[in-house]
Amino acid sequence: MLQTIKRYQFKTIGDTRGKLIALEMFSAQVPFDVKRVYYLFDTQFGAVRGKHAHKQLKQLLICVSGSCLIHCDFGDGRKMDYILDTPDQGLLIEGLVWREMKLFSKGAVLLVLASDHYDEADYIRKYGSFLEEVKNGKRNSTSFS
Ligand code: TYD
Repeated sequence: MLQTIKRYQFKTIGDTRGKLIALEMFSAQVPFDVKRVYYLFDTQFGAVRGKHAHKQLKQLLICVSGSCLIHCDFGDGRKMDYILDTPDQGLLIEGLVWREMKLFSKGAVLLVLASDHYDEADYIRKYGSFLEEVKNGKRNSTSFS
C-alpha cells in the first residue's frame, strides 16, 4: 500500500450555541469504511505511544481536545512531525509508516478512526522489522499533503 499522510481540514458547522463537525464514511474526509473507533486520554506529557507501523490498517487521527505531536517515519530516512492541536483537523496515515504519538498536552484526547478491527497480526512493533519491510517493498512510493 502506498505510504500516505494527508492532513484534513474539516468543515465546521457553528453558531452562537457552539460548533459541530460531522464525518461521514467514504466522504472526502474519511476515505475508508470505519470499523473501529478508539481514543487515547489521560496521557502523560512525557509518554510516547505508538512506536509501531501497520501493514494494512488505515487511520484518521483527530486530537479532539488539547494537542499532541505525531511523528511519522517512512523507513527510508524521511521523517515528518505533525502537530494536532485543533478538533477541526485530521491526519490520515496509510501504508507502512512508523508512528509515535507524544507531547500530549494536559487533558488531550486523541480520537482514532480505523479501517479495521483490532488485529495484533497487523502490527509491526520492532523498528528493525519495519525497516526490513520497507526495504523489501520498496515499490512503495510516498504521498504527502
Ligand atoms: P497499542 O496499539 O500498542 O497502543 P498505542 O499505539 O496507543 O501506544 O495498544 C495498547 C494495548 O491496547 C495493547 O495491549 C493492545 C490493546 N488494544 C486493543 O485491545 N484494542 C485496540 O483497538 C487498540 C488500539 C489497542
